[in-house]
Amino acid sequence: MTSSIPTSISIRHIQPQDGEVLRQIYNHAVLSSTATLDLEPRTPREQERWLELHSSIYPGLVAVQNDSPIGYATISPFRPRAGYNSTVEDSVYIDPEHQRQGVGRMLLEHLLATATSLGFHSCIAHIVADHRASLQLHLSCGFRLVGVEHEIGRKFGKWLDMAILQRQLH
Ligand SMILES: CC(C)(COP(=O)(O)OP(=O)(O)OC[C@H]1O[C@@H](n2cnc3c(N)ncnc32)[C@H](O)[C@@H]1OP(=O)(O)O)[C@@H](O)C(=O)NCCC(=O)NCCS
Repeated sequence: MTSSIPTSISIRHIQPQDGEVLRQIYNHAVLSSTATLDLEPRTPREQERWLELHSSIYPGLVAVQNDSPIGYATISPFRPRAGYNSTVEDSVYIDPEHQRQGVGRMLLEHLLATATSLGFHSCIAHIVADHRASLQLHLSCGFRLVGVEHEIGRKFGKWLDMAILQRQLH
């Protein structure tokens, strides 16, 4: 159950100075969970390239409380081939101390509105199939399950199924 969202939280576009805090939020998920199938923490140089991507037509949003980022959401290209250019893939990462407070939902709703206003047609999420929090977050933001890819990932010595969820934007 989601509690009410603290009114002190605001949403804005990611800025270069957010990079290190957001890298730490992401790397916590890399090291402690199957939320991402990255196996190694992201380096500062990789984070610079990530910031460049999300300062482009594939923006990122950050939730801020008391001037500190507490979570973020981004859209990324779905596939490199040009015929897929109207489709994006989303990511949402919330600092563990601020999870289950409605921040993920607030960010994803803003992100989908942003992606829609940019003219993207469809948004895809790949979610490890037993990740109840992310599945529920996406279902409650209007995504629907379109399939499951079996044992396509491997982390912490286990095979992982990936759920594919989709939300049409236009
Ligand atoms: C998944 C994640 C982004 C959810 O963000 P959050 O701020 O904790 O979620 P919210 O509080 O906005 O809740 C959104 C919905 O998910 C549900 N939810 C959240 N955490 C849950 C959990 N652990 N188990 C079941 N449902 C959960 C909420 O009840 C809410 O449902 P509702 O909209 O039907 O009321 C967050 O847990 C997170 O950052 N996890 C680590 C990184 C990650 O897994 N990212 C997603 C990669 S695919």
